Amino acid sequence: MEKKNKVFEPIKLAGITFPNRIIRSATYEGMSDENGKPTEQLLKKYIALAKGGVGGIITGFIGVNEQGRSGSHMALLNSNENIEAYKELTQKLHDIGTPIIAQLNHCGGQTKKEDTGMQVIAPSKISDYKAREMTRAEILEVIEAFVQGIKDAKEAGFDGVQLHLAHGYLLSEFVSPRMNRRTDEWGGNTENRFRIVKTIFEKARKEVGNYPIIVKINGYETLKNGMSIDESIKIAKLLEKVGCNGIEVSNGTIKAGLATMRGNVPWEMIVAQNDRLNKMPRFAKSIIGTVAEKAFPQPQPKSLYNLDAATAIKKAVNIPVIVVGGITNIDEIEDIINQNKSDLVSLCRPFILESDLVNKFKAGLQTKSKCIQCNFCIIGIEKAPLRCYYGKVPARVA
Ligand SMILES: Cc1cc2nc3c(=O)[nH]c(=O)nc-3n(C[C@H](O)[C@H](O)[C@H](O)COP(=O)(O)O)c2cc1C
Repeated sequence: MEKKNKVFEPIKLAGITFPNRIIRSATYEGMSDENGKPTEQLLKKYIALAKGGVGGIITGFIGVNEQGRSGSHMALLNSNENIEAYKELTQKLHDIGTPIIAQLNHCGGQTKKEDTGMQVIAPSKISDYKAREMTRAEILEVIEAFVQGIKDAKEAGFDGVQLHLAHGYLLSEFVSPRMNRRTDEWGGNTENRFRIVKTIFEKARKEVGNYPIIVKINGYETLKNGMSIDESIKIAKLLEKVGCNGIEVSNGTIKAGLATMRGNVPWEMIVAQNDRLNKMPRFAKSIIGTVAEKAFPQPQPKSLYNLDAATAIKKAVNIPVIVVGGITNIDEIEDIINQNKSDLVSLCRPFILESDLVNKFKAGLQTKSKCIQCNFCIIGIEKAPLRCYYGKVPARVA
């Protein structure tokens, strides 16, 4: 009997109808203006992805306030002007039939004072980053900022929001036993570390009813005292209990190097965009390369590295699960979806190179992404809008 292939069938999950099961994972685009308003370039990017067949788009992270921003081109939703601009953008995506989800984030300890002009804050003062421990009043302010962000996203026409609880940003700093060392009611056991997320859900539900709210979490962390799969399963159960509509499973923090996006250590790109390092002689640069490869230890495996965690979480909860990380070919995707290992798959780097990858998969024109995982894109976005460098250092990054 022929195997049933669900990948290209539409599905309603988490209150959102997806035309197929392959979606674009959140990818910082750096295509907003200084005030966080989306530019024409961002709209074009999303339209290319939608016309290229993606089952849905999760935006690059959008700041819930100025203090949680990083880089001067990170999107913000916190003004009527920006909400109006996003209304036009979401409408254009809906005209094509592609759902769009706003990823809401506060960068916490992983932003810089130079970026925000403000004090960098985190749940605890730890050596992973330079940040001051948040006061209780600041925690309540952040909760309000997330609730406001969810209301604003709904008003702007997004099909739902994704709260960023992964990659070492503020909400994941709270949830992670490594990063949250607080001894008050916002730290300690799992329930206390989760309290900030629970409070956001409780307050948001009063404002937006059953509007889709999903999250992205670290299924595990590779650093000492980081999240274990057992711990992330506990968090997933708590998320289900507070009315979360779906969970995307990732891993990593900035301190953990390239655990999130595995592949090449992009030292040539790091050197190229640092004026001081770039002036060094060629042999000195290659020494930097060797050091960089040692400094960013690469956890193994390099593909499907969040699948075990996602599948374990899927078994433990009854809400939809999305797996991201090192997914590059259609055979793997069909296996994941048809064997019910995850409800959706999400991809980031493959879509930076090929916006139309899903159409190519569907038409049988290609079975594998052409992305070489050079990781130059992740360095490039610090200075310039998102693009694929395909392993070539540009003359100038910005
Ligand atoms: C250039 C770039 C920007 C990213 N921006 C975000 C982001 O804004 N929010 C987020 O949750 N993850 C972000 N990620 C991580 C991806 O969503 C994804 O989890 C990771 O790249 C692994 O997926 P992949 O192997 O398909 O690239 C980014 C990754 C890259 C390479």
